[in-house]
Amino acid sequence: MDNLRSLLAALLLVCFGFGAGVLGDGDGEQFVYSGFAGANATLALDGTALVQPSGLLELTNGTAQLSSHAVHRTPLRLRRSPGDAVRSFSASFVFGIIPPYSDLSGHGIVFFVGKDNFSAALPSQYLGLLNSANNGNATNQIFGVELDTIQSTEFNDTNDNHVGIDVNSLKSVAAHSAGYYDDETGAFNELLLISGKAMQVWVDYESDSTQISVFLAPLKNGAKPSTPLVSAKSNLSKVLVEPAYAGFSSSTGTVRSRHYLLGWSFAMDGPAPPIDIGSLPKLPFVGAKPRSKVPDIVLPIATAAFVLGVVAVVILLVRRRSRYAEVREEWEVEFGPHRFTYKDLFRATEGFKNKTLLGFGGFGRVYKGALPKSKLEVAVKKVSHESRQGIKEFVAEVVTIGRLRHRNLVQLLGYCRRKGELLLVYDYMSNGSLDKYLYSGSKEKPALDWAQRFRIIKGVASGLLYIHEDFEQVIIHRDIKASNVLLDADMNGRLGDFGLARLYDHGADPQTCSPSAPSSSRWPAAGGPWSRP
Ligand SMILES: Nc1ncnc2c1ncn2[C@@H]1O[C@H](COP(=O)(O)OP(=O)(O)OP(=O)(O)O)[C@@H](O)[C@H]1O
Ligand SMILES: *[C@@H]1O[C@H](CO)[C@@H](O)[C@H](O)[C@H]1NC(C)=O
Ligand SMILES: *[C@@H]1O[C@H](CO)[C@@H](O)[C@H](O)[C@H]1NC(C)=O
Ligand SMILES: *[C@@H]1O[C@H](CO)[C@@H](O)[C@H](O)[C@H]1NC(C)=O
Ligand SMILES: *[C@@H]1O[C@H](CO)[C@@H](O)[C@H](O)[C@H]1NC(C)=O
Ligand SMILES: *[C@@H]1O[C@H](CO)[C@@H](O)[C@H](O)[C@H]1NC(C)=O
Ligand SMILES: *[C@@H]1O[C@H](CO)[C@@H](O)[C@H](O)[C@H]1NC(C)=O
Ligand SMILES: [Mg+2]
Repeated sequence: MDNLRSLLAALLLVCFGFGAGVLGDGDGEQFVYSGFAGANATLALDGTALVQPSGLLELTNGTAQLSSHAVHRTPLRLRRSPGDAVRSFSASFVFGIIPPYSDLSGHGIVFFVGKDNFSAALPSQYLGLLNSANNGNATNQIFGVELDTIQSTEFNDTNDNHVGIDVNSLKSVAAHSAGYYDDETGAFNELLLISGKAMQVWVDYESDSTQISVFLAPLKNGAKPSTPLVSAKSNLSKVLVEPAYAGFSSSTGTVRSRHYLLGWSFAMDGPAPPIDIGSLPKLPFVGAKPRSKVPDIVLPIATAAFVLGVVAVVILLVRRRSRYAEVREEWEVEFGPHRFTYKDLFRATEGFKNKTLLGFGGFGRVYKGALPKSKLEVAVKKVSHESRQGIKEFVAEVVTIGRLRHRNLVQLLGYCRRKGELLLVYDYMSNGSLDKYLYSGSKEKPALDWAQRFRIIKGVASGLLYIHEDFEQVIIHRDIKASNVLLDADMNGRLGDFGLARLYDHGADPQTCSPSAPSSSRWPAAGGPWSRP
């Protein structure tokens, strides 16, 4: 008759498309959950407990400090009649714990038989079963088998990976480090409860001997080891009262593990019916979820590329800024028209390349260039100066010289200032300086004939006359020499390098500023001995 009923139930389940579900009768004698799909009809769930579509019973969901219970709704018939001893019973279940870290989990699962009232129970080390006030009190009337993954010293836990037999108390009657004894060799094999792998537990209570035996094994084929992991004698007749229920309690602490049940069977007066291992749901993967490898590879590369790009752009901008950086001060505003940007000069001379170098003298190098916009050919003299002293006067002087217009003077077009550097821009003289003709002989330039020489000397004299006599201010060149006499396209002599000369007003005595020592006083000092109206 029982067989027929089981068969009918199985047929019904298959017809309704459940791969698994509760098998058994409503009298609390025995039942089997091979997966929990559709089991919420016979299971009372609370807290975080939830049956997933796959049939996996999730007891805790990875939220901290919560607990849950899953209780078979039908009360157990612990005693055949009131006053009798508690009957033998047997349970088996398959569980899995997915820890947030490979070496840390919290808190555990308890299989229990007893009163179904957890309104005052606490999560964390109380496992959703008891609380600090009632722990150890005989009025709890509960028996449990704990799978504890945290060592709670107040309960004298031996380690953070143990199985314990609890009677009214979380301080276990007996406990053992998780594992199993090999049937053939008898050797103890350690098992890690938080390995993320499914494991099976058997709990047997033998009425006559009051022997409680607990077995643990990896989930293979439902084979139960012959040696129990932990056992104890406790007369549950003195503990349990009716109505009593069978179920599970689970909790998380600060460590948020996910606790799962895959299957469960129970029977009074006999071994727990076998669970159909083949139809059990699968546990979620431990650790990293197997997702597309593409973001794993592309994301770091893209991030690195982006960061590199940003850094490159910043470096480029900074370099650009520093490359073209200039010094510009308030007092220079009035000289604006005479000012060149460094960028223009940089471009004109192709970045002050050696191939544009015309020559160098005592104070710096002279480069040939063509201004970007006007294409005007210029000579750029780059003079380095350490002190800022006198620079203001010097620039004023440069501007004054810039106002000179004479066919025998090299036109000073303007200037530019950078940190520690001054640039003077002159008209370019295509035939270079006179010294090249005089001293290099016939090697570079042809020798000058007397007519040419005379013309050049006349030109220099004419230029000198202009700056000494005809200009509104007296300008003493102070550095007349062959290299400062430049020759234009028509071989006219022109005086160059005024940047280093001094200015005198008409009537002032040039002697007072020792014009005979040109090399020692090329840079006029601030408040130097020159003045202007
Ligand atoms: N405006 C210019 N056009 C063409 N070449 C020039 C011009 N100015 C200078 N040079 C060239 O650059 C060279 C270097 O000039 P620079 O004035 O730096 O040195 P220097 O005249 O020999 O000595 P000093 O520093 O005493 O003037 C000159 O010999 C000349 O050949
Ligand atoms: C069981 O769960 C299903 C879906 O999760 C729901 O439709 C059904 O009402 C639940 N039954 C009970 C008794 O809670
Ligand atoms: C877990 O369950 C709790 C209580 O039911 C809920 O508030 C929380 O959102 C759930 N968390 C997840 C990750 O499902
Ligand atoms: C559950 O226990 C609490 C005390 O812990 C009690 O107040 C409450 O009435 C009990 N509920 C039931 C349904 O027995
Ligand atoms: C046990 O619990 C009962 C009822 O909750 C209480 O009256 C009693 O004092 C408790 N005993 C101990 C030792 O705490
Ligand atoms: C825990 O065990 C130690 C010895 O291992 C014992 O001294 C102590 O009393 C125990 N604590 C409790 C609360 O039982
Ligand atoms: C267990 O306790 C019950 C009730 O107190 C008693 O009748 C029974 O004999 C005990 N069993 C054993 C094996 O001591
Ligand atoms: Mg010169």
